[in-house]
Amino acid sequence: MHAHKKSDHKILISAATLQKRISALAKQINADYADLSEPLVCIGVLKGSIFFLVDLLKQVTVPLVIDFLQTSSYRSGSEPGEVRIRKDIDVAIRGRHVLLIEDIVDTGFTLKTILELFRFRGAASVKLCAMLDKAEAREIEVPVDYRGFEIDDIFVIGYGLDFDERYRELPYIGVYADSAGTNS
Ligand code: IMP
Ligand code: MG
Repeated sequence: MHAHKKSDHKILISAATLQKRISALAKQINADYADLSEPLVCIGVLKGSIFFLVDLLKQVTVPLVIDFLQTSSYRSGSEPGEVRIRKDIDVAIRGRHVLLIEDIVDTGFTLKTILELFRFRGAASVKLCAMLDKAEAREIEVPVDYRGFEIDDIFVIGYGLDFDERYRELPYIGVYADSAGTNS
């Protein structure tokens, strides 16, 4: 199906492996939030988290609402990244339990900024669920409560993740050829 695209990347995590792990994460979330008295506020970070969020939340059985936010980050030289909110959430989170859903935690600046914003707004709790964790690349500490997979510090694509807006639709996680050190 994706044969025409595969020449420029290699599969790192197969679709089946992803789905198996997502089921396990959903089970964990269902158990942890079993006693919630009001809906869990699930917030996806656009655009990378959408495939993960959809597959995950189809298997979450606690009452929930879904919203999205979008950020952009700017880096100049060695200065820490300045993360901006491009699209904010619409729901109020004061006093509510929030589950933030992200594609990948890299340096940690994006998540750190969002987590601080949500705490500032008075969320009862904020937990982070990330499909991928590049722990090696972390520059600022962010606690990942639910983690799909830990991966090396390499550039990955697919299952929501893009390279110049391409490859998001791949049902698996791939390594871009340049990053994999191969041109085959
Ligand atoms: P952080 O603020 O450095 O943690 O950046 C996280 C964001 O960078 C993610 O939400 C992705 O959008 C993007 N990102 C980081 N690593 C990769 C990658 O390997 N492939 C595609 N996007 C990535
Ligand atoms: Mg992202």
